[in-house]
Parts: sequence; structure tokens; C-alpha cells
Amino acid sequence: MAHTTLPGFRDFYPEQLAERAHVMRAWREVARRYAFMEYDGPPLEPLDLYTAKSGDEIVGQLYNFVDKGGREVALRPEMTPTLARMVGARANSLRKPTRWFSTPQLFRYERQQKGRLREHYQLNMDIVGESGVAADAELVACAIDICRELNLTSNEVVVRVSDRRVMHAYLAALGIAPDSFEAVLGVADKLARQPRAISAEKLAAAGLNVDQVERVLDIPHATIDTVEFAISAASGVGIEHVQELRNFFDYVAQLVPGGEAWLQFDLSIVRGLAYYTGIVFELFDRSGEFRAICGGGRYDNLLDAIGGTSLPALGFGMGDVVLTELLRARNLLPSMAQTVDYWLTADDDIPVLRVMSEAASLRAKGFSVEYALRRQSVSKQRKAAITAGARNIVHLTNSTATDSSV
Ligand code: HAM
Repeated sequence: MAHTTLPGFRDFYPEQLAERAHVMRAWREVARRYAFMEYDGPPLEPLDLYTAKSGDEIVGQLYNFVDKGGREVALRPEMTPTLARMVGARANSLRKPTRWFSTPQLFRYERQQKGRLREHYQLNMDIVGESGVAADAELVACAIDICRELNLTSNEVVVRVSDRRVMHAYLAALGIAPDSFEAVLGVADKLARQPRAISAEKLAAAGLNVDQVERVLDIPHATIDTVEFAISAASGVGIEHVQELRNFFDYVAQLVPGGEAWLQFDLSIVRGLAYYTGIVFELFDRSGEFRAICGGGRYDNLLDAIGGTSLPALGFGMGDVVLTELLRARNLLPSMAQTVDYWLTADDDIPVLRVMSEAASLRAKGFSVEYALRRQSVSKQRKAAITAGARNIVHLTNSTATDSSV
């Protein structure tokens, strides 16, 4: 029986690896420009690192098992709990704010669908130790700059921004009881994907009256002005978070040329993960063809819960799968890089040791070099060189070497 990959797992042939490398190069380059330092953690973690804090959606998708030592373990489905543990363990000695990035492969037992696999690579960028909104702006600017680095524009990608605290203040201003917030957030999260009537039914079941149901269904269209007005007209509680959000928009516009064109206030951005506490955001393609490209936000209580130190923190995860699909759809993936600088061909009477010595001296100068690993006719060697896409063919004869560029 022929073997295939498990569902949702990928083989990376050189063409696909070149695409992945292209995306990862952009991630690294922008992370460097924003002065983030790289870290990594183990791919296998204790199960309870996730069951306590990640939220039901991720916990339901864990690849977990009991290891040979009887430990409950899980393949990492996300990086944030690992980061929280690592930073927590060295909280006193780390320079703050800590700006760290990582590009782990993550594993989630997801229902297979377009843009969602059971493994993916995810850029994680996080800032720990800064509660001010400039840090939130810095991260979103960074996510936008990655898109720009990959030649995407604000015509293709939008950053939808919300704030959990503003959302709570708005729901309270609509007279909705705090007990119903969780149910309302669950519905708001699905407004774009779920028929309106079903959302309305769920909201009514959560105890909302007809007027409240209508206002919640309209949340994706609520502007920051409407929301601010509603909060001030009610108790005014939470109004300071609206001002912070306005500052955030101004900062991003300053950090990225034309930054405002990428941003959209959208209170229906909820984010599935349980630990977010403040500004949250997601990047989508404007055409609505694909799933989220990137998601993140502020999680000021997670370090305390996992690392035992109370430090404000925020970050995002950007996966390779949707981003690569989008780049492919927009014709923005480069053709596979040519890798062979020199292909050495040789006459029949040239000893292989001489070919090897030529190869070694060119490689010592930093060139990539290939040659026939077994005796072959010159025409076969030439053909192999051309198939390899070699930039230069050097032909070795008993008298001289001739260099022909192709
Ligand atoms: P997340 O929204 O679960 O957040 O994932 C972030 C991004 O990873 C998504 O927008 C998507 O591009 C990609 N992604 C997630 N699951 C899959 C999948 N099954 N297949 C392909 N791509 C996927 C987090 O994981 C947070 N821990 C991010 C974060 C970092 N928040 C703060 N710091």
C-alpha cells in the first residue's frame, strides 16, 4: 500500500518549501526591523498548560496522549502559554518591555477546511511588560508591515480591530446583563458566518429583548462614534478605553505609511481564545475568500495565571497557510529560486578528482556547484546542467576550463 500523509499534514517538496521560506523571510526581516528577539520552546508540553487557559476551542483540538512515563502531554497548539511560562520564569531578569518572536510549527486536530490544517507554522510576536497602547500599535504596525513586505496592499488586506473592554462597556450601555455577555460574544464572533435569524434566536435565548437583539446584530456596522455616544449616554463607564482605541488608530497611522487605510473598527472581532483582555485584532483578505490571516491582542492576566508574575502582555499569531493561499491567489509568490551557480562538465579523460577539486575551490568562494556524480557523456552532463537551471557551465578539458554562461 502506498503511504500518504495524515489528513491535514503537508509534505514540503522544494517548490512548497521555497514558498514557505519566502513567507518566513518576510516574517524574520520585519521582526528584525521592529527589534524583536527570537526564542523557541518545546513542541511537546504538559497537557495542563493548555487545559487551564487556552479556551474550549483549542482544548477540543489538542493532540494529546499519555507518554511512556505516564505523563499527560500535548503537541503545542499555540505558542502563547509557552511564552508566558518562559517569560514568567525569568520575569525579574528580562529587559522590559520584552519583544520576542518565534516561528513554531503548531498542531491542532481541526475539522479540515480551506485555510485550516492540522499543522501549520505560525509567526508569534509578543511584547511583555508594557500596558500602554503604543505597544498594541507597534504590533499591529508590524503585522501590516509584513503584508507590505510581501507586496500586499490595503486593497487586499484589512485589519479589524476591537477592544474587549469597549465591547463590554457597549453591551452594558445597551442594557444587557453581564451574565449574558459570554453568550453575546459567542454570537458576535459568528455574525459574518451564521444566518441572521439563527443569531437572533440565540440572542433572544440569552435573554436579550427585541431592541437589544437588533443592536447586537448591527455590531459589525457600529462606528467608533456610535459606540462612544452610546457609552457616554449610559453610565460613561469604560469610555476611557474608547479614547485609548482612538490613540491606537493614530499611532498605527503614524508607524506605517498610509496605515489608516488598513484599519477598520469592528466590535464583532471577538477572538476565540479565552485569555484576551483589551484590544484584539484580526487580519483578513478584503475579498472575504479566506479565513483569518492573523489574530492577536492583549492578554494582561495570562502571565500571572501561568508564569506566576503579574505582567501586561500582548501579541499576535500569523499562520503560513492562509497567507500563502492569498499570495498565490494574487500572483505574489516568487518562482522557485535558482540555486546552482556553476555546473561542472568534464571530458571523458578528466579524472573525477580534478572535477572535485574544481568544485571544492568554487564552493570555498561561496558558489553553489554541482557536477555529475558518475561518468556520463558530455552531452548528458550538459543536459543535466541545463535541467538544473545552472547559471554557468564550466567545461573541464585536459588543456583548460571553458566557462559558458547559460
Ligand atoms: P489564533 O487566532 O488561534 O491565535 O491563530 C493565529 C493565526 O494562526 C490564525 O489567524 C491563522 O492564520 C493561523 N492558524 C490557526 N489555526 C490554524 C490551522 N489549523 N491551520 C492553519 N492556520 C491556522 C493564536 O494562536 C494566539 N496564540 C496568537 C497570539 C499570540 N496571541 C497573542 N500572542
